[in-house]
Amino acid sequence: MEYHFDFTSVMDRRGQDASAIDAVGTPGCPGAPKEGFDLIPMWVADLNFPYPQSITDAMTGRLQYPHLSYFGTPKGYIEAISWWQSTRNGVCDVTEENLGYDNGVLGCVAAAVRAVAEPGEGVLINTPAYIGFTSVIDNIGYKNIESPMTVRNGKWYMDLDDMEKKIRKHHIRAAVFCNPQNPVGRAWTKEEIREMMDLFEKYGVLCISDEVWSDIMLFGTKHVPAHTVSDYARTHTVSIYGTAKTFNLAGLYGAYDIIYDPYLRDRIRAIKDRTVYNKGNLLAYYALMGGYSEMGAAWVDEMNRVLSENAKMIFECTRDEFPGVWAAMPDATYMMFFDCREWCEKTGETMDEVLKKCHDVGVAVQDGRPFRGEWAFRMNHALPTSRVAEALRRMKQYVFVN
Ligand SMILES: Cc1ncc(COP(=O)(O)O)c(C=O)c1O
Repeated sequence: MEYHFDFTSVMDRRGQDASAIDAVGTPGCPGAPKEGFDLIPMWVADLNFPYPQSITDAMTGRLQYPHLSYFGTPKGYIEAISWWQSTRNGVCDVTEENLGYDNGVLGCVAAAVRAVAEPGEGVLINTPAYIGFTSVIDNIGYKNIESPMTVRNGKWYMDLDDMEKKIRKHHIRAAVFCNPQNPVGRAWTKEEIREMMDLFEKYGVLCISDEVWSDIMLFGTKHVPAHTVSDYARTHTVSIYGTAKTFNLAGLYGAYDIIYDPYLRDRIRAIKDRTVYNKGNLLAYYALMGGYSEMGAAWVDEMNRVLSENAKMIFECTRDEFPGVWAAMPDATYMMFFDCREWCEKTGETMDEVLKKCHDVGVAVQDGRPFRGEWAFRMNHALPTSRVAEALRRMKQYVFVN
């Protein structure tokens, strides 16, 4: 079947409850553009593309019945996840038993940490890190034990020696793994994940693998689910997925987890379902069924082509036009993480000044410091390519002026 999707029209999301647009100019968010510049939202991790019609159809189809009663899991929901995981990730054994619902990825991260470690203990995390991880670990009374990733030949890597030192020093029992990695856009290879898992096996560490970005793969890169790399990985990984990033459904909180080990599964479910009353959201189930379909798959493939083009354009422009600024070529996600240290040292500008110059001209990138990037900003490029080109043009003319 041939589909036609629109990844070129500019969506006007003003006044439609999107934080990416409506929160600009409020405390903690990018400043509002100066007069004469329109907003290019490049901060919150959401899409500036309309999701596929199959999602609208699935939700409106359900809404024709004028009730949203207490409900049992629709059969099509498990079938849709099982189809998606097998066709996209080669994982063919998803069942009702090993599948769990999560109203958001972070609730499951919190429950998994609580299942194996006591408050006050450390949780290992690679930095730069998604702000949601560091705050959830803090908020539930644990310590973030940060292992900075390193850059070699223009690519980000985990530092296994540093991770091992920290596991030993802090008696780590749980690690949060971001696969693929937000904010640096790295897709981990099977060998890299296996080496990490071997380390976790040596010390009995649980791997909490957040795979919410795993559908957004660039340049034909294949996602490797962490639980597939070894026997240890299968029984000591909590794999978390969702439709929030893939289809811009964050407002429905429709994440899910796959846990193979029955003991671990029971412990985590006891925490998340029986103590904090994590419950499914019926519309989120229907939206997922609409997305995890032939049309949804074709839509994601096309979006990934657009995002690959955007990433390449940004990478090349940064390399050629923004002296003293660096970002890795990403292999996944629609996020790129820029290091401005050299630029700031050379010009004497602070990161606050760089960010203000971007925001003044409507390029609403996000401060990278809360992600643990001292000289960094994060850019979301899930926009029509024409908008990304316009953002780069403004940055060249007004921000990184030679
Ligand atoms: C790595 C990562 N995990 C989780 C989330 C949020 O997921 P949810 O809204 O389902 O909690 C995000 C959002 O940006 C993310 O980047």
